[in-house]
Amino acid sequence: MHKHFLLALYFLLFSFASECFAESKPSPLSEVKNITLKDAYADKFLIGAAIGDDLLENKGHSSFALVKKHFSSITSTDALKWESFNPELEKYNMKPVDYFVDFGVENNIDVVGHVLFWHSQTPDWVFEDDNGRLLSREALLARMRERVKIIAARYGDRIKTWDVVNEAFEANGSLRQTKFTQIIGNDYIEQAFEIAAEELPKNVRLVYNDYDMFEAGRRDAVVKLVEDFRAKGIKIDGVGIQGHWGLRYPALWRAELALQVFERIKIPVYITEMDLDYLGRRWYFGASEEAIKRISSLPEINPYPDANFPPEVDRELAARYRDIFSLYLKYSDIIERVTFWGVTDADSWLNDWPVEGRSNYTLLFDRKGNSKPALEEVLKLVD
Ligand code: GLA
Repeated sequence: MHKHFLLALYFLLFSFASECFAESKPSPLSEVKNITLKDAYADKFLIGAAIGDDLLENKGHSSFALVKKHFSSITSTDALKWESFNPELEKYNMKPVDYFVDFGVENNIDVVGHVLFWHSQTPDWVFEDDNGRLLSREALLARMRERVKIIAARYGDRIKTWDVVNEAFEANGSLRQTKFTQIIGNDYIEQAFEIAAEELPKNVRLVYNDYDMFEAGRRDAVVKLVEDFRAKGIKIDGVGIQGHWGLRYPALWRAELALQVFERIKIPVYITEMDLDYLGRRWYFGASEEAIKRISSLPEINPYPDANFPPEVDRELAARYRDIFSLYLKYSDIIERVTFWGVTDADSWLNDWPVEGRSNYTLLFDRKGNSKPALEEVLKLVD
């Protein structure tokens, strides 16, 4: 009896002690103070997340709760691209977009349209007639206008901002040669913006979007584009800097130079596709297909296949996000929005690019939707 009493007492004391210990364990900042990203940054810029098709196909996806809690803006990764929205002539796939737009509007979240015109993820039929011959300039412009008209009629100003043209310039500032340049000519960006301005509601913002905007040639070409549009009275409301970066790439001073230049010409900036490629991809550029195939099967290309990331991974990613967001805060007067390209690491495209099936570590929420130290660092900056 006496022995049982002691055992029970021991058990009680032990549970009490473990509870105390659990309570004294430091909890993540966002949970202690119940801070959310969108609230913390409310007077700085919008915080966006890109919503992939996997989410739009599964309305019960747990990431939607995270989006509602932490994000003030959403972009669809693919659903509005020409090949997804209108894969064949007169065949439309609008349901995922309807859901995407309704979700944003119902939850008071800013909805971004990505992307009206891009050389990639645009099906061949767009550029061809019924006999497979390239269209004339007029016919392609008419097809582009038709696309915008249909979108405008269905979504109007519920989509508040559009990436009108994506990735039109090479790093050296020359115009990328695509079917748009081939058929329409070098003024196709101008034509695209004019169509968007004429067909979309007047209060919709029109943005030019590109990557590696810290490359001087491309950055200067975009500055020239903005100045040229202004001189001609063509509507352009912002410049989108994608932001698919790495732990060391680009050097922050280079990223800052781009922000300084856009600040000087007073054009609002949208960070449209932020993520960090923890695993890196330097080996990929310039490598032959065969080399890529060989390299991609090496274990060091996918060092954490089961997503068991050691603590130093967290520390590095958190420090880099802290530095990048410190820079964004310095330019918060011209930055309108920072959008992450995905919600959690589970839906990051960097698990499958440049090679398929890696476990990458890219965003602020882990694969289970838990906050990462990187989120805490980003929150601390505005605490
Ligand atoms: C580019 C495009 C996006 C997306 C990403 C990669 O940056 O603008 O639509 O395709 O690449 O996922």
